[in-house]
Amino acid sequence: MKTILTVEDVIRQASASDAYQDIHMDVIRRVCETEGRKGLQGRELVKSIRSRLHQIGGAYLPTNLDPEIFKTELAVLPRDITSSEIRQFCLKKMEQHASTKERLPLLDHFFQEIMAGLPVIHSVLDLACGLTPLSLPWMPLEPDTPYTAVDMYNRMAVNLQEFFDHTRIPGKAVVADIVTFPLEQSYDVVLLLKTLPCLEQQGKGMAAALVNRLKAKTIIISYPLRTLGGSRKGLGATYETDFNRLAEGRNWQISRFEFTNELVFRCCQP
Ligand SMILES: C[S@@+](CC[C@H](N)C(=O)[O-])C[C@H]1O[C@@H](n2cnc3c(N)ncnc32)[C@H](O)[C@@H]1O
Repeated sequence: MKTILTVEDVIRQASASDAYQDIHMDVIRRVCETEGRKGLQGRELVKSIRSRLHQIGGAYLPTNLDPEIFKTELAVLPRDITSSEIRQFCLKKMEQHASTKERLPLLDHFFQEIMAGLPVIHSVLDLACGLTPLSLPWMPLEPDTPYTAVDMYNRMAVNLQEFFDHTRIPGKAVVADIVTFPLEQSYDVVLLLKTLPCLEQQGKGMAAALVNRLKAKTIIISYPLRTLGGSRKGLGATYETDFNRLAEGRNWQISRFEFTNELVFRCCQP
């Protein structure tokens, strides 16, 4: 006899392992609903939900970002964000997130270039941040610039908040679903680094829907130029087309930057 699973059963089963329990419940619930509309049931549905959660998050995070280890290692370091000890710590920790790790060879010039020539930045919102906030020592920002970092992993947020507090950066690490995260506030810079392709995997049109909700003087949007497996697969051309479609009719002043692994568009309100 086939067991009928309720929505709550599916959610419970889909989030039963340690890796998924760390994900914000709003993301799990939404992914369950989206996958559920595909006509799958029971075990097949649970499998497809887990596979989607892996694709949008787990694939980037092979380790569990233990907050105790993070805290203990950070506690003995100087508080100065420019110190070499803090930089070394950040470099080591950023290796734990596959997407953030790809940017490490570019760190010395990446943020300097993409933020060059902007008026003084008074606030930053980093959506689906991964471990990018640990790149703050390489960003051309004043140390008192408020930085809001949002991702769907609880332990990631705990680690990032620990980092903000230790280095006395006025940062806030928030665990949330960026699809429903409130965006009434206006920011000088919003970072959407490799975020939009990940959102489109969660539903067609979600990238544009997020951008429509943003209030920002500058939005920095980037796309990966390689898959996680290392293949290029013409990603650049595909994402450039996606970006051009997204930018249509928005009256942005656009600057384009191409790095080895990442294609970046800086979009300023005129
Ligand atoms: C490709 S990575 C980009 C990470 C980071 N922006 C960077 O460039 O290093 C995508 C990130 O989006 C996060 N993510 C995916 N869907 C999300 C959602 N709906 N809400 C919050 N975070 C999400 C994942 O956890 C992952 O850290």
